Formats: sequence, structure tokens, C-alpha cells
Amino acid sequence: MQISCSILSSDNRPNSVLKLNNTNVDYLHIDVMDGKFVKNNQFPIEEIKKMLSLSTKKADIHLMVENPSSYIKELAHQNIAYITIHRELDTDLYPIIEEIKKLNYKVGLSIKPDTSVVSLIPYLKDIDLILIMSVEPGYGKQIFLPRTINKLNELNRLRLKYPHLIVEVDGGINNTNIKKLIKAKVDISVVGSFITNNEDYNQVINKLKTIK
Ligand code: DX5
Ligand code: ZN
Repeated sequence: MQISCSILSSDNRPNSVLKLNNTNVDYLHIDVMDGKFVKNNQFPIEEIKKMLSLSTKKADIHLMVENPSSYIKELAHQNIAYITIHRELDTDLYPIIEEIKKLNYKVGLSIKPDTSVVSLIPYLKDIDLILIMSVEPGYGKQIFLPRTINKLNELNRLRLKYPHLIVEVDGGINNTNIKKLIKAKVDISVVGSFITNNEDYNQVINKLKTIK
């Protein structure tokens, strides 16, 4: 299981990024919110760039915004692995998917807890990663929704036809519920407060990465 650490709930984000550089974490997860797609408003483009400049880890950018293009066009030539947008956006997603691909980043598509796995089907052949939200997006430190596991099982049936897909889960993940995610063949877990609430990040990360 790979771990992508969300620094959303850290009270000193630059310091958290620097600390993560010295751990075995796989990705730096940056939660971008515009106050419209979700109520919260976090990580303006200047702060995203600041975090990217401090990080030696590849970034995993989660855009919870109504207008992803306005962020994507500012993010060329960065140390980014994935840029993920939301399926719920009321617009044609293909031009946005193409924009991300043109920058040579992998494309993720995310669904909120009430959005069906079936709604992803038209896009599966053209994207790299599916991000299943296990909490309502907007805030860290929430409780993992158990119905996420049903969605993962459903998604695994579709993955038989689309074996290239990487599956990531985000929200409320800890050392107990991660076992269910391993069983459900999740590739990347986004873990926020369960890591950043501790002094020793690497100890928590190493434990999470060795759970079977
Ligand atoms: C929620 C965010 C998550 C979240 C993870 O909108 O997308 O990345 O902050 O943090 P924890 O692990 O604290 O739920
Ligand atoms: Zn996130």
C-alpha cells in the first residue's frame, strides 16, 4: 500500500512538507478547495506552489474546485505525479483531462460518497486513477464511511476490464480501517490527520506501510 499524506489539517504546513521529505511517504497530497465546489477554501495557487517548491516528494493534487483549468494552467513543470478532478463537475470533463495530459501528469477522477461508481464508466479508458472519497470532501479529521468498501468491490469488478487503473481512497483512514482497504486492493491511501497529529511522521508512515 502506498501512502499519500494530506497536510490539510497540519497547523504548520511548510514544516509538515519539510518533515515529509525525510520520511518514506510516497506522495504529498494537496487538497485544493475554492469555497464553491466545497464550502471550505484552502490552498490558493501561491500556497500550492510554495508547498511544491519545498517538497522533494512527488505531489498528488486533489482539486475540489469548480474551475480546475484555472489551477491546472498554473501548474506546468512541477514535481507532480497526479492531478485529480471531480466527476460531479457540471461541465465536459474531456478538455480538462486533455489539459492535464498535456502537462505530462497522470489524470485522476474522484467521486464523492453519494456519487455512483457507474458514473465513472465513460471515462475509465482515458484516465489513470480513481479517487474514491471515504468522507464528504471539504474537511480533514472526519470519520471513514464504511459504505466505501462496497464501492471498492464494485470498482474491482470494472478493473478486470481496465487493469491499468490505480485506485486511491481519501478520508478518515487510520491503522485499523486501512486493513479493509488492503483487502479491497486499493493502491494508494490518502492519510492526513492520522499522520500529522503525531510528532514522529515516519514512525506512523512505516507502520501503515507494513500492515498486511
Ligand atoms: C477531505 C480531503 C482529505 C482529508 C484527509 O476533503 O480531501 O484529503 O483532508 O484527511 P484525514 O485523513 O484527516 O481525513
Ligand atoms: Zn484529498
